[in-house]
Amino acid sequence: MSAIRFERVEKSFGSHVKALDGVDLTVADREFVAIVGASGCGKTTCLRLAAGFEAPTGGRITVGGQPVTEPGPDRAVVFQQFALFPWKTVAQNIAFGLRNKGMPAAERQERVAAAIDMIGLSSHADAYPHQLSGGMQQRVAIARAYVLEPEVLLMDEPFGALDAQTRVVMQEELVRLARKNPRTVLFITHGVEEAVYLADRVAVMTKRPGRIKEMIDVKAVREAERWEEHARIEDVMDLESFVHLRTHIWKSLREEKVAGR
Ligand SMILES: Nc1ncnc2c1ncn2[C@@H]1O[C@H](COP(=O)(O)OP(=O)(O)O)[C@@H](O)[C@H]1O
Ligand SMILES: [Mg+2]
Repeated sequence: MSAIRFERVEKSFGSHVKALDGVDLTVADREFVAIVGASGCGKTTCLRLAAGFEAPTGGRITVGGQPVTEPGPDRAVVFQQFALFPWKTVAQNIAFGLRNKGMPAAERQERVAAAIDMIGLSSHADAYPHQLSGGMQQRVAIARAYVLEPEVLLMDEPFGALDAQTRVVMQEELVRLARKNPRTVLFITHGVEEAVYLADRVAVMTKRPGRIKEMIDVKAVREAERWEEHARIEDVMDLESFVHLRTHIWKSLREEKVAGR
């Protein structure tokens, strides 16, 4: 069964703005799909609909076969802005969702400790967000989502606010996490390289009103060309097979810009 399914999804805001016009997209169980598209094409709208923050004006969205009608514990969301609780420590921020789930304290502590270890912040468990760098804060936000073990992770440009060096570290870290502990992920970005590096498949959106114009199977190439033998993102990005996919997607997006003038 596909974990996330968009069927002819439309979304209008009032009578003037049509953001999405017939989005068809499926994300398989434990698959990592990235959506790329120009600014304003409707990427965030797709994510907000999948999260259940808003309802489509046409078509339908299901997660695990169930129609999405509201936010739910089966879906965790990570936004560009870190959205940590400033008055809670790293450990308390990560524990927050588990507490809401009614998990016993001992199990909660164990899971939180494992999550903090996973993101390499064991020495900062009792620090407050303002004491952390942007990259550390975003690692906490990702750990907070991961620890809930949701069926589905929805991420909207989670590294968009980070400086270039921190972003690279986070991208490498997310790849490590995603391969070690695969989740169903819908990842929004306007970064073509980021999408190709992280995702199993990349969905290219048209300009507004958005539709999916093309799906690119990155995983097949990644496995055939053994990208995983390269630990560093810049080495992967230098591979001919990577450059080929990146250029293909860039051209696809560029056609959209020209067509839209
Ligand atoms: N709540 C809203 N009310 C009116 N227009 C909106 C709203 N949310 C998004 N839009 C419009 O829908 C289009 C798609 O927005 P968005 O999904 O945020 O694009 P992206 O994330 O790809 O940059 C844009 O033209 C935006 O201005
Ligand atoms: Mg957006």
